[in-house]
Amino acid sequence: MKLNLVEKFITNNPIRAFGQRYIEGPMLRKMGSLKKYPLCLEIGCGRGIGAEIIVEQFGTDRVIATDIDPEQIERAKRGLKTEFKDRIEFKVSDAMALDESDETFDAVFSFGVIHHMEDWGKTIKEIARVLKHGGEFFFEEPLRGFTGIFTKGSLFSVIATHPEGGMFSFEEFRDELKDNKVDIINLKHFRKICIFGVGRKR
Ligand SMILES: C[S@@+](CC[C@H](N)C(=O)[O-])C[C@H]1O[C@@H](n2cnc3c(N)ncnc32)[C@H](O)[C@@H]1O
Repeated sequence: MKLNLVEKFITNNPIRAFGQRYIEGPMLRKMGSLKKYPLCLEIGCGRGIGAEIIVEQFGTDRVIATDIDPEQIERAKRGLKTEFKDRIEFKVSDAMALDESDETFDAVFSFGVIHHMEDWGKTIKEIARVLKHGGEFFFEEPLRGFTGIFTKGSLFSVIATHPEGGMFSFEEFRDELKDNKVDIINLKHFRKICIFGVGRKR
């Protein structure tokens, strides 16, 4: 589901970029178990900061960074620095129906994206499908305890609307991953609000 104007403002903001680059990126990097992640996929890349972080911090040769919103992909392409041009490809794509082949990537990244899906379980299946065996899935996601306050019609929905189909508890998220052969190997769980972690495909 595309972001509304308020959420776009929050996402396409230097403060968000700072947090992603200096807090989330390094924290997730420490949670991974592989030395290098040569080929990566990022879903819901937004303005493209995550793709730069993947190259800079995860020892990555190439990132395919995707988003459902053509406007965000155009913004990411415009902002792409010359030094990343050979390594990052931005393209429009729906994370619930990826066109990549099975077992392609060493890592898949979701920086706050899965809770925007109309069907989050479908997205997990797609991520698991395109991961290589032994590949890792890095995620940062708010849980139902937080996303639940943004349901359509609620007071908070003027700030953001999150689809019902994108709401999950930690246990539901963990079990869906497990059913798709991805086991969580490292996790930071901030009460019922959000999770940061890494899963590895069996
Ligand atoms: C909260 S933003 C996060 C953007 C970026 N990852 C970041 O951390 O700044 C969520 C992004 O997911 C994208 N998105 C929503 N539904 C999607 C879908 N079905 N497939 C791919 N991207 C999607 C939105 O367009 C938006 O750019």
